[in-house]
Amino acid sequence: MVDVKRGALVNDPVITIVDGVIESVSTGEAPQIEDASYVDLAGKTILPGLIDMHVHLTSDSDMHGYRRLAISDERATITGVVNAKTTLMAGFTTVRNVGAGSFGDVALRDAINEGDIPGPRMFVSGPPIGITGGHCSDNNLLPPEYEAVGENVADGPWAARAAVRKNRKFGVDVIKTCSTGGVLSKGTKVGAPQYTIEELTALTEEAHSHGLKVASHAHGSEGIVNALKAGVDTIEHASFIDDEGIRLAKETGAYLSMDIYVTEFILGEGEKAGILPESLDKERMTGKTQRDNFRKAHEAGVKMVLGTDAGVYPHGDNARQLSRMVRFGMTSAEALRAATSNAADALGQTGMVGIIAPKASADIIAVNGNPLADISLLENVSFVMKQGAVHKSE
Ligand code: ARG
Repeated sequence: MVDVKRGALVNDPVITIVDGVIESVSTGEAPQIEDASYVDLAGKTILPGLIDMHVHLTSDSDMHGYRRLAISDERATITGVVNAKTTLMAGFTTVRNVGAGSFGDVALRDAINEGDIPGPRMFVSGPPIGITGGHCSDNNLLPPEYEAVGENVADGPWAARAAVRKNRKFGVDVIKTCSTGGVLSKGTKVGAPQYTIEELTALTEEAHSHGLKVASHAHGSEGIVNALKAGVDTIEHASFIDDEGIRLAKETGAYLSMDIYVTEFILGEGEKAGILPESLDKERMTGKTQRDNFRKAHEAGVKMVLGTDAGVYPHGDNARQLSRMVRFGMTSAEALRAATSNAADALGQTGMVGIIAPKASADIIAVNGNPLADISLLENVSFVMKQGAVHKSE
């Protein structure tokens, strides 16, 4: 077993589980318990189920740019059913879904929790909240005569608060906003801030007052700083984070969720997948700096989680990012913590997920070999248990 906190292996672990919750963790011989069922994973290495803090289960990786316009929210939700299973089978027992049309993600989460379909435990944002014409919520694909306005466009502090209230009313777990433009949205700039500090502060205050955390998409340094000053909990992408951003993140304890794998997909397969030429250009000026800044922020001691943006690239390939996190400065143990205990902390679920310990949900995966020596082994998970139920056993 990998003890992710210590970054060390434990031999001959014995875990007892009652009603989907871990009751005890010991080593040695398995106790004989009447009526218990036994799962023998001899020869494999077990770890806590992985957590991806930035996915879009309702999106598919071959439907970018104008192709997106042809997909209804209902159709996207059904896509989410398929992707939820794929994600779970890849060893991700918990995900944070940051952005889905209508409340398809709420429906998916509930269907999974009620046992109708297999999938990871989901923490969901519903529709992101953003500015007119911005990345998040609006899109600039259609000319004015279509009068298309994204569903959570909210300009001004009070509109932002109202959007938070609406999302909470319909069952979200987290608020997603955008404090800069993005790569994949038409007509936005990664360096351009979105929202004023006043707006971001109102949105964040409102979310926090309901016990909801805030995830802010931000590439450019100014928008990163604005979001951190407003008190958001996680910065998504963080590509151009500067010294002030690094200092503020350390001061506020915000986590960075830097999707440093996806650039390989966008530049390699993006054109075939419908990604717009302007987005490919934006990616060419973003990916490399993001990787350099990943190293810099990590060395500076900023807290990090694994967030991949799966959905932009194929679901199930989430774990590919772990080896890039090691290549760009983390130890295997640090990358594993980013995908387990740190992610649990950023979700406000410390001790409940991302750890094999008493009182935690029995979310356990297994691989062949030692992932502390070769993190890429996590790309081939051979066993998946979620809440005590076995979903995969090879
Ligand atoms: N959803 C993000 C955006 O459109 C993807 C960014 C991907 N690029 C990267 N280097 N992380 O902005």
